[in-house]
Amino acid sequence: MRAVRADITTLETDAIVNAANTSLLGGGGVDGAIHRAAGPELLRECRTLGGCATGDAKITRGYRLPAKHVIHAVGPVWRGGNSGEQDKLAGCYRRSLELAAEHGLKSIAFPAISTGVYGYPVTAAAEIAVKTCGEFLRDNQSEMEVIFCCFSQRDLEIYQNLLAREMR
Ligand code: APR
Repeated sequence: MRAVRADITTLETDAIVNAANTSLLGGGGVDGAIHRAAGPELLRECRTLGGCATGDAKITRGYRLPAKHVIHAVGPVWRGGNSGEQDKLAGCYRRSLELAAEHGLKSIAFPAISTGVYGYPVTAAAEIAVKTCGEFLRDNQSEMEVIFCCFSQRDLEIYQNLLAREMR
């Protein structure tokens, strides 16, 4: 597992993960950037999926993106931390990795799900992201390359500190 600072729409991984909403019909933030870069066929395919529950994820093709697939994960809105947000956020990472493994993908890049519009504190979310992905890779003896794609230097440093501890 590693962290990079990049625009996730530029990454050539087998899959990039989208921080979507339950409608899967696009939005702002990274959702908007991914739909803009993938082109209109992405929305056309998303329309066939019937939405997605919070804490779950669904996979589509990547269309004009360099990534082969987009895995649309729906993170929880932060409501103070006593509404099961942790489990829902962990579910986004776990379900995304399960889908990637089911499709034989070798590399996946995650944005910092829920930490933008949905207001999840960045460090708490990063701890869940690194812990959940580390557990999945160990429990499944998976060789999948997991990249945490940070959009700011601050987020990158948070992830790098956590990864240094997790990978010790
Ligand atoms: N590449 C990588 N990361 C990005 C990019 C990008 N191009 N654009 C934004 N980000 C980062 C943000 O800086 C933040 O760290 O993605 C993280 C998630 O922020 P949001 O995109 O706001 O996603 P989220 O907080 O999960 O809110 C989801 O916002 O856009 C709507 O439709 C979406 O309703 C859903 C909600």
